[in-house]
Amino acid sequence: MCYNFYMSKLDDIVSLCKRRGFIFPGSDVYGGMAGTWDFGPLGVMLKNNLVNTWWSHWVDQRDDMFGIDAAIIMNPTTWEASGHTATFADPLIECNECHSRFRADKLVDGYSESITTEEFKAINPACPNCGKTNWGSIRKFNMMFSTHVGAVLPEDESGSESDKELARRSIAYLRPETAQGIFTNYKNVVDTIYPSVPFGLCQFGKSFRNEISPRDYILRDRECSQFEIEYFVHPNTWAENFETIRKEYLDFLTNKLGLKAENIHELEVSEEDRAFYSKRTIDIMYNYPNGEEELMGIAYRTDYDLSNVAKASGKNMEYRDKITGETFVPHVIEPSMGLERAILAILSEAYYEDEMDGETRVVLKLPENLAPYKFCVSPLLKNKPELVEKAKEVYAKLKAKYTFVTWDDSGNIGKRYRKQDEIGTPKCVVIDFDTLEDDTVTVRDRDTAQQIRVKIDEL
Ligand code: GAP
Repeated sequence: MCYNFYMSKLDDIVSLCKRRGFIFPGSDVYGGMAGTWDFGPLGVMLKNNLVNTWWSHWVDQRDDMFGIDAAIIMNPTTWEASGHTATFADPLIECNECHSRFRADKLVDGYSESITTEEFKAINPACPNCGKTNWGSIRKFNMMFSTHVGAVLPEDESGSESDKELARRSIAYLRPETAQGIFTNYKNVVDTIYPSVPFGLCQFGKSFRNEISPRDYILRDRECSQFEIEYFVHPNTWAENFETIRKEYLDFLTNKLGLKAENIHELEVSEEDRAFYSKRTIDIMYNYPNGEEELMGIAYRTDYDLSNVAKASGKNMEYRDKITGETFVPHVIEPSMGLERAILAILSEAYYEDEMDGETRVVLKLPENLAPYKFCVSPLLKNKPELVEKAKEVYAKLKAKYTFVTWDDSGNIGKRYRKQDEIGTPKCVVIDFDTLEDDTVTVRDRDTAQQIRVKIDEL
């Protein structure tokens, strides 16, 4: 059965994720920390499976892609050169009555980050906190988290001129995108492994954004993770490379992450809504239970980044073609996807409720490559030592072969099946009295609940 009550489907996913140890609110025990989320034992397995699936597909199985893993705290020149210090800002508006602060464009429909105070006040929405309509002016709020690197004391910021200078010069930022760690390593990679253009550098890792209003469960976080690829191409071939990557990514989303094509929608971003450095951007939107939202973006960033790195570092970022000898600064196609948004899309796609044995069953129909456990092994009866002993033997064998195998001898067999359905385990293996006779086991399928007998050696 397809679930139609979208808001309640999201509530059901949130509840399942907490109940079964996939996702907890960050710092839960202390009342939470807005915009942060912690992955529990099953969540971290799902997350690792997603990371491995992505890495294997985009890096290991290709000859034109290579991985890097750059530091999170980078030289602050990075963010001057990239434009983040000047422009990575959202429109902040404050209610003059209750002093709550909001992202202005999220309070009115149809506006982007470039909304002006005049446009906002022409609509004059009610404050979501106090209901009044007495607003201040829109201010630009830079979303980078800053910190001090080195032995700087809080009092240095208001101390002597040299203390203030020390404090000022020690400011660094937690990276707001992983991409800059790729651009700043472009020359290191070219000078060490001599890849031929077109080639891609891939990175997965944490990014930090001090979002004014984190929201929509794990969709807009202050600490998130990104899968980013910078694909370096000859300037004349950007359009065809863009097209190829777009198609390859859509295939990846449907074939490897199990997202249905009908839930994915491409949005050609208009010139006025694109980042100023981008000549073309497609947002890949996903039909989440609470509405359509951006899952990822594919942007043509021209040579904006490499040229800025060249200017700010004084280093040459030109590439010399090995056959023609032509030199040029490569242009870049960038597919960028958030891990949390991918996880919520995967969970939304996989979550089903159906009727089984007169009861409502919750089942996560996760693709096998993403399911935390591939098998669950159980003895039919926990109080029969001969069944338990044989089941342990089968468990050890499967664990050695597939690693992600769990053991369950709690409750009755029906309850075990329900529990494994909820966490997305594709197959449950049950050892019963026939097993002792003929070395066959029952294998029960998560999606159909059908059971077949299989020889242990054939598992
Ligand atoms: N390097 C390009 C870049 O960072 P972006 O559109 O700002 O572009 C890319 O981010 C992707 O990262 C988004 O499509 C989304 O999947 C994810 N993302 C961005 N901000 C996020 C946030 N605050 N919380 C969760 N995911 C986020």
